[in-house]
Amino acid sequence: MQDKKPRISFFGLGYVGIVTAACFASKGFKVLAYDIDESKVNLLNEGKTIIYEPCLDDLVRYSVKNGFLKASVDPNEVVLNSEITFITVGTPSKQDGSIDLRFVKDAANLIGKALKSKNSWHLVVVKSTVLPGTTNNVVKVTIEEISGRKGEYDFGLCSNPEFLREGSAVQDMLYPDRLIIGGSKKSTDYLLNFYKMFYEKLPETIITSAENAELIKYANNAFLAMKVSFINMIARICQKLPSSDVEIVAKGIGLDKRIGPLFLKAGVGWGGSCWPKDLNALKRFAEEIKVDVPLINATIKVNEEQPLIAIEYAKEMLGNLKDRKISILGLSFKPNTDDIREAVSIKIINKLLDEGALVVVYDPKAMEGIRRIFGNKLVYAKDAIDCIKNSECAILVTEWEEFKKLKPEDFLNNMKYPALIDGRRVYNPEIYSSKLNFRAVGLGYRN
Ligand code: UDX
Repeated sequence: MQDKKPRISFFGLGYVGIVTAACFASKGFKVLAYDIDESKVNLLNEGKTIIYEPCLDDLVRYSVKNGFLKASVDPNEVVLNSEITFITVGTPSKQDGSIDLRFVKDAANLIGKALKSKNSWHLVVVKSTVLPGTTNNVVKVTIEEISGRKGEYDFGLCSNPEFLREGSAVQDMLYPDRLIIGGSKKSTDYLLNFYKMFYEKLPETIITSAENAELIKYANNAFLAMKVSFINMIARICQKLPSSDVEIVAKGIGLDKRIGPLFLKAGVGWGGSCWPKDLNALKRFAEEIKVDVPLINATIKVNEEQPLIAIEYAKEMLGNLKDRKISILGLSFKPNTDDIREAVSIKIINKLLDEGALVVVYDPKAMEGIRRIFGNKLVYAKDAIDCIKNSECAILVTEWEEFKKLKPEDFLNNMKYPALIDGRRVYNPEIYSSKLNFRAVGLGYRN
């Protein structure tokens, strides 16, 4: 059992890689990170990062300045100067929704090449989200083929999924609910020992097979997405009942300890870099192994339809949307991030443009990403008030703090016609419905 701090390397400086590497380095572990993208590597070595994540800047600056964190474009350098290598590359979707393992295979190839010239035992940890069987059947097999070394004897393998939420990834990494480690005894012991050095108090830990660890990640994401789609489905029922409100229904069921209050916030749908791709990958995987997964299919279906609620409400209030000025408040897939991957805002904007509406948008962090997609098809406002100015309908799509502070008077005084759609349930329905033409997801029609 190792008692000296192991040196760590990373393959992939994406979201998970950079957050995890910075957290390890900030606690005095020597971390070397490989990425194919030279600009990311150079930026990191200057103590900077391209992603926006609370607390990350400080950790990166501190770790680079004190020599704990260094990035490199040389895969051999990072493997040969470490005892543990974490694979943190992306696992995007292919056109048909199935998982694209290209980057995982590239990483395994490069690690295999490097391990050819390493004489001591090395641990490879798969942190990227991969389907059950990938660590053993793809990563291990590839490294064995390329290196000529034998898995478990010359190098070890673990699956160690992450559960980082964007916007609180550093916090989630430093104070996780649990650790999931899958693999053989020697490998899991080695990784567990590292985590005992990293965490002052080891979180609840499950040591299991690599396949279980891999599946836990998918089941976790699918369950949470199902919970949100479930409450969104209930929201549709509430909308048809005159004095019903999904917020109260969610509170009522959330107080049952068996259900719990979290992830029961109804809205115009979920997005992001994980749930959409992971649910589709799980669906395709289940098809391949001939298992029927109706709950996964329904979870995806509810979510595909959910953004349309905003369009239906807009039509109810304005009639034809052609040439009507509509404001979108919030573009990122959730607050406190600039990430617009699979953001609901994109679906709503596309639908409004199809209907011929004039769309004005504002987001505190995600304007650039949306501008890259829509260019001059949209009007880009400089703040929330500028966004709703002279507009005929405002749709709250992402619940940033600054939007929560908008008063009914802000809408009344600035809009041409004060119609507000609350897509995230941030406004008090009693107050707003009494002053504005107001609709909200999951709110029974009141006027
Ligand atoms: C998710 C998982 O939570 C995380 O464990 C995993 O590692 C990566 O995927 P993230 O994508 O950052 O994290 O977002 P999360 O906070 O889980 O929200 C996902 C989506 O669901 C967002 O679009 C959010 O707005 C929506 N959501 C969430 C709801 O609509 N209602 C809720 O009650 C919770």
